[in-house]
Amino acid sequence: MNFEHIIVEQNEVATITIHRPKKLNALNKATIAELRQALTDLNEDTTVKAIIIIGSGDKAFIAGADIAEFAHFSEKEGAQLAANGQHLLFDFIEELETSVIAAVNGFALGGGLELAMACHFRIASTNAKMGLPEVSLGVIPGYGGTQRLPQLIGKGRALELIMTAGMITADEALRIGLVNHVVSQEALLEFAKNLAKKITKNSTVAISHAIKAVNAGFKDGTNGYATEIEAFGSCFGTNDFKEGTTAFLEKRKADFPGS
Ligand code: COA
Repeated sequence: MNFEHIIVEQNEVATITIHRPKKLNALNKATIAELRQALTDLNEDTTVKAIIIIGSGDKAFIAGADIAEFAHFSEKEGAQLAANGQHLLFDFIEELETSVIAAVNGFALGGGLELAMACHFRIASTNAKMGLPEVSLGVIPGYGGTQRLPQLIGKGRALELIMTAGMITADEALRIGLVNHVVSQEALLEFAKNLAKKITKNSTVAISHAIKAVNAGFKDGTNGYATEIEAFGSCFGTNDFKEGTTAFLEKRKADFPGS
């Protein structure tokens, strides 16, 4: 896969590195399109079982949506920017069947934090700084931040972070549940890969059903419990379920076919 703004390593645990170091990996339209393409390709490759997203360099994960690109937009263009971004990338990541982990290796601001929040979970390095500073620019988070931040840390804390346009440290993010782990920057990618390897040992089909069921609880008009029942039932028709239960009864490790 050849891209201009991202680097993709296609392995069982794949990595996508956002690579616009001169712009602190800010998300422009082209980067969003490349991320969508890379995630689509990796998701279709059945040998890829988990994906890690990280920023290039040691300063930023993603310092936000590219401000230069939208500074002159009209109301209509602004709404389109948010709608396209949410549809094309942020919702797509959240609903991806393959596990996606954000390795937050520095500034994760605005669209950068929104992208990290769309991932299935987050790990941060000690130097990471996170926030949604959009109101300091006269705008609000538009890539799902007003919804996913309260889901992750609660409404009061989310509103404080959004209204103050402040930044929090990795330790604070850990304390309030925005990230699951904090490790040194040198250890971050290895730590994320080791965690991903634990995921790859399990049934990818079951994991994709679990992601769908968990997400269903956060969607308007969707009954999460009903989705869980349906997804639970679907698992019984899979080869992974046959292998997982047979392996347990035969007292051996499961070797999941992934179907
Ligand atoms: N969009 C576009 N360009 C960005 C950017 C963004 N979100 N964030 C950083 N950049 C660019 C800067 O314009 C600068 O480019 P230049 O060298 O061509 O002038 C380059 O990246 C380096 O950033 P700089 O601001 O010089 O680094 P810093 O160390 O002084 O500050 C930050 C780092 C993250 C605090 C600062 O870049 C910042 O506040 N960025 C915007 C964060 C934001 O509001 N994001 C939400 C957008 S909705």
